[in-house]
Amino acid sequence: MKIAILPGDGIGSEIVAEAVRVLEVLDLRFETESALVGGAAYEAHGHPLPDSTLKLAQSADAVLFGAVGDWKFDALERSLRPEQAILGLRKHLQLFANFRPAICHPQLTHASSLKPELVAGLDILIVRELTGDIYFGQPRGRRLSPDGAFEGQQEAFDTMRYSRPEIERIAHVAFQAARKRSKRVTSVDKANVLETFQFWRDVMIEVHAQYPDVELDHMYVDNAAMQLVKAPKKFDVVVTGNMFGDILSDEAAMLTGSIGMLPSASLNAANRGLYEPSHGSAPDIAGKNIANPLATILSLAMMLRFSLNQPEAAARIEAAVTQVLESGLRTADIWSEGTQRVGTREMGSAVVAAVKAA
Ligand code: IPM
Ligand code: MG
Repeated sequence: MKIAILPGDGIGSEIVAEAVRVLEVLDLRFETESALVGGAAYEAHGHPLPDSTLKLAQSADAVLFGAVGDWKFDALERSLRPEQAILGLRKHLQLFANFRPAICHPQLTHASSLKPELVAGLDILIVRELTGDIYFGQPRGRRLSPDGAFEGQQEAFDTMRYSRPEIERIAHVAFQAARKRSKRVTSVDKANVLETFQFWRDVMIEVHAQYPDVELDHMYVDNAAMQLVKAPKKFDVVVTGNMFGDILSDEAAMLTGSIGMLPSASLNAANRGLYEPSHGSAPDIAGKNIANPLATILSLAMMLRFSLNQPEAAARIEAAVTQVLESGLRTADIWSEGTQRVGTREMGSAVVAAVKAA
C-alpha cells in the first residue's frame, strides 16, 4: 500500500511532518512518497498541480494532504493559484464525499467561543458534496466591455449546478453514515430561492424513501448557520452542497474550540481518499512551530480507518490524542489558563510517545 504525502504551503510541511512521525511509529508496512503541491509546486514547476503530483496521487491508496495557499499568490491568474491544486485533486480523483466531523473534546470545552453547556459533548458530522455546485459549474467567467478593456469589465458569473446522480450519491453517503450514528440527517439547502436546491431537496426526499429507518429533515442554509451557534447539539449528520458545506464546516469547526483540531476525509466511490485538516495554510504562523498538528494527525487516523482498513491503528492514534489533551498539553490555538503551552513539534512528540506506550 502506498500513501502519497503532499504537505503543500504555509504550515503544511510542519503539521504533515508530525503526522508522518506518528505513522512511522505505528510500524505498519506502508510505502510513502512525497511531492510538491500548491504554491510550492508552482514555484518549483510553474503549476500548482504538476502532472507528476497528480499521477502520484492517482497511483496511491490514500493521500495525506497539508494545506495550500499564500497571499503572495493572490495576483496570479485563477488557474495557477495554489487552491487549484486541491480543487484539481478533488475533481480528478472524484472525491465527491467530504466528511468533516466537528467534535468537541471534553478537555477543550472551554476553548470554544460558545458557552460550555452549548458545546459540551458536541459531535456533528458534516457531509459536504465536494465535486459539484457553483465550485465547478459551467459556464463561468468575466464579460469584458465591448472594447475589451479590463477596467471596463461589465460583469462576472459562475453557474450553480447539480445533476441527479451527483445528489443521489451524496444522499446515500449521508444516510449510510447516519445509520452508524443516531439515524438523523439534516439536509441544508436554499430551496426557497434557488432552482438547484429545490431539486436537491426533491432528490434527497426520493433517496430517503430507501432509508425508512433514518429521520430526514430540511433546513435553509441561513437558518442552519444560526442554529449552529444557537443550539449546535440538535444536529447529528448534516448533508449539504459544496459551497454551503464550505461555509458551515468552518462555522461548526470553530464551535469545537479550534479549527486546528478538525480532520477531514474526502472519498470517492471506491473509498479511496484524500485526508487533510479542515483548516488552511495559515501563512502568518508558518515556520514558527506554533501550528496545531492534531487535525492532521487525526486525519491520518481517518485514513487508516476509511481507506487502509486499519481501524485498530486509527483508534490508537485517537486515544493517544485524548491522552495528550488529558495531560494538559496545548498548542497556542487551544491554550487556556492552567494548561501547558507547547509547539507543533512538542505536540507531535507527545502523540508519538503516547502511541508508542499504548
Ligand atoms: C476547504 C477550503 C477550500 C474550499 C479552498 C482552499 C479551495 O476552503 O477545503 O474548505 O473552498 O473548498
Ligand atoms: Mg473552506
